[in-house]
Amino acid sequence: MLLVACLLAYVAYQLLLRPRFNPLLRLAGPNPGGLFKSNLQPVMSPSVSPRAHETYVHHFGRSFRIRGVGPLDERLLTLDPLSVSHVLKNSSLYEKPWQSRALITSMIGCGMLAAEGQVHKRQRRVATPAFSIQNLRKLVPLVFKKGTELKDKWTEMISAEHLEEDGKVIDVCHWISRATFDVIGVAGFDYQFNAIQNETNELFSAYKDMFEVAISQGSEFSTILSIYAPWWFKIFPNNVSRTVDRCQNVIRKVAGELIQDKKRKIEEGQKSGKPYQGRDLLSLLLKSNVAVDLPEDQRISDEDILNNVNTFMFAGSDTSSLTLTWTLWLLAENPQAQDRLRAELLDAFPDQITDVSDLNEDEIQSMNETLSHLPLLHNIIQESVRLVPPVHSSIRVATEDDEIPTMYPVKLADGSTDVKKSVSISKGSFIHVAVEGFNLDKEFWGPDAWEFNPDRWDDLPEAASKLPGLFANTLTFSAGPRSCIGMRFSMIEIKTFLYILLTRFVFKSTEDKIIKSNVVLTRPYIAGKYRDGSQLPLIVSPYIASKH
Ligand code: HEM
Ligand SMILES: *[C@@H]1O[C@H](CO)[C@@H](O)[C@H](O)[C@H]1NC(C)=O
Ligand SMILES: *[C@@H]1O[C@H](CO)[C@@H](O)[C@H](O)[C@H]1NC(C)=O
Ligand SMILES: *[C@@H]1O[C@H](CO)[C@@H](O)[C@H](O)[C@H]1NC(C)=O
Ligand SMILES: *[C@@H]1O[C@H](CO)[C@@H](O)[C@H](O)[C@H]1NC(C)=O
Repeated sequence: MLLVACLLAYVAYQLLLRPRFNPLLRLAGPNPGGLFKSNLQPVMSPSVSPRAHETYVHHFGRSFRIRGVGPLDERLLTLDPLSVSHVLKNSSLYEKPWQSRALITSMIGCGMLAAEGQVHKRQRRVATPAFSIQNLRKLVPLVFKKGTELKDKWTEMISAEHLEEDGKVIDVCHWISRATFDVIGVAGFDYQFNAIQNETNELFSAYKDMFEVAISQGSEFSTILSIYAPWWFKIFPNNVSRTVDRCQNVIRKVAGELIQDKKRKIEEGQKSGKPYQGRDLLSLLLKSNVAVDLPEDQRISDEDILNNVNTFMFAGSDTSSLTLTWTLWLLAENPQAQDRLRAELLDAFPDQITDVSDLNEDEIQSMNETLSHLPLLHNIIQESVRLVPPVHSSIRVATEDDEIPTMYPVKLADGSTDVKKSVSISKGSFIHVAVEGFNLDKEFWGPDAWEFNPDRWDDLPEAASKLPGLFANTLTFSAGPRSCIGMRFSMIEIKTFLYILLTRFVFKSTEDKIIKSNVVLTRPYIAGKYRDGSQLPLIVSPYIASKH
């Protein structure tokens, strides 16, 4: 009896009393408009979020309260640079919530994206050498090869229908995704999906189906169920859980064999004194994991190796392909910028390179140097990832009570302004990291912040140049210890692809209106044709020098 009373008292305290002490309730913030309503849609959906952020900051200041899921879920949304820097740099105090980690883990395993604490530290340490400049060198010829393959494919598609004059409408989103999958397949674990050629490869289909199912099919209810009661689908499998199971079995079988095969090669190399030369991420991970200077307790298991290969597939393919896709769209919408960029690229390599297989190490290196130092190319990529960050926003949970320092005044719900220069947050509260919100903030970037203006980077406003972020003062690759490990990788990939595609093709918009939708990542859809799935058709025609 006493036990039941205690339990009830505890539940009542958790549900009724504790939320009343939640310091976030003191903050100003939008009215959710009902007990079971939420403020998430306006801040999560890229079709409305820029305006929502602006309006909220105007009314409630840069640190405000929003309602998440359900009446007890008050969250902090901060657009204060000092606060977001504090949260992202203090990664042990602000972890990823177990709910999102569970969701990622259920699909790709507990790799670097999902792990926390010591487990994450160990994985990140083992993986870091794989992303060194030295090891990324091999990426240049690989991307060049795949870019050329894609170029040949498109050329073939265009000429098969004699469309050289008018150009052919191509869903660049779909094709670039096939190409970036190919790149991460070879760079990730020395495996040829050959997805540019056809989509029949078993492992390719497994990854593709799994990622697609995860993003498109799960209803909100089944997502919640799979977080809070994952055993449910073990007993009552549905289409989604069946697909994920099937894909995971294929991946475990095929990729598992690859891992064992690599391990053998590395061991043989160590014995024979002729070290194995593989430079793919998997080989480098395995090598770094057996390095003599790595203490025994810092090594990671085969299971963790597989989880991280999955993580690279998941984190490294769609993000890069969407960035490329959005960049081509922006260039199609801004033909002058496209012409200028093409001129810069043609000028950088006057003798069009057609085949990298016969370039030597030095020549490849110098090609990378040249691509790295083209000012307009760099400006356009910075502008593109600022304007359309594939990761729209992220979320953290406070693991302790904390005072988050603020740079801007904090407005309270009663209309007053807090005098202390911080926001109090209690253990367990969520913090929204508005990646896009920061990237598009007019107060920092200027009144044209929502427009495509690559030249802004030649003369950045003081306020923007002080923003935290791993790349170009944007939060596109996040910041701090949990920021993107693949940033340099994707830069090489994006620049090389852009070089190949823009020197061979001209891109024009179609009549379709393109809208952005946040489906795990910010993806393109045609307005009114949401059910046809993510796509971005552009008119692609061969670039003919004399005509332009
Ligand atoms: C344009 C391309 C890319 C963008 C915009 C991007 C963005 C991001 C962002 C925002 C995060 C932090 C996620 C969070 O805090 O919730 C992240 C983490 C990560 N990214 Fe990327 N990424 C890109 C490409 C890549 C590539 C090519 C790879 C690997 C080959 C990669 C691997 C990772 C990994 C492993 C993490 C987790 C790091 C950790 O938690 O320690 N990313 N990325
Ligand atoms: C992490 O949080 C603590 C406690 O609030 C603070 O003293 C420290 O400066 C923070 N570190 C960083 C890097 O922001
Ligand atoms: C390419 O060149 C840039 C600029 O010199 C350099 O920072 C980068 O590390 C190089 N990348 C590779 C893979 O060598
Ligand atoms: C798909 O492409 C691969 C590699 O080019 C080739 O070996 C295979 O025969 C192709 N499969 C089909 C069904 O076309
Ligand atoms: C579930 O899968 C079956 C067979 O794969 C398919 O016929 C059916 O339409 C799917 N149901 C839903 C709701 O997607």
